[in-house]
Amino acid sequence: MASGDPAKGEGKSAICGQCHGKNGISIVPIYPNLAGQKEQYLVLALQAYRSGERVNMAMTPHARKLTDEDIADLAAFYASMDPSGGGIKHTSKTN
Ligand code: HEC
Repeated sequence: MASGDPAKGEGKSAICGQCHGKNGISIVPIYPNLAGQKEQYLVLALQAYRSGERVNMAMTPHARKLTDEDIADLAAFYASMDPSGGGIKHTSKTN
């Protein structure tokens, strides 16, 4: 699996941030946080929405527009964020 570029992911995340928060912490209780989530899990989740395996009225229309590269970049971006809401971590990943 080609690994994504977090910097490119950040550039593609403007729309996602409207629901999942600019720092990856969602602003609405029924929307999931993404900051610090496992990169591979994020890829699988986005692929599942895109394919229709997983369906959600809020999420599916956005996932449908993503290319494989977009998914990889967005997953790398959210995985690199601080799960406590501090934004992008500048340390290297440990997993
Ligand atoms: C209109 C609001 C909205 C927008 C915009 C949106 N999402 Fe979501 N997203 C949701 C909701 C709501 C869920 C939970 C859906 C469910 O229950 O399956 C979700 C779920 C997810 C999940 C799965 C999380 C998990 O824990 O399983 C990922 C990954 C995700 N979104 C990424 C993105 C990305 C990347 C973008 C931008 C391309 C985006 N979302 C745009 C509302 C949104």
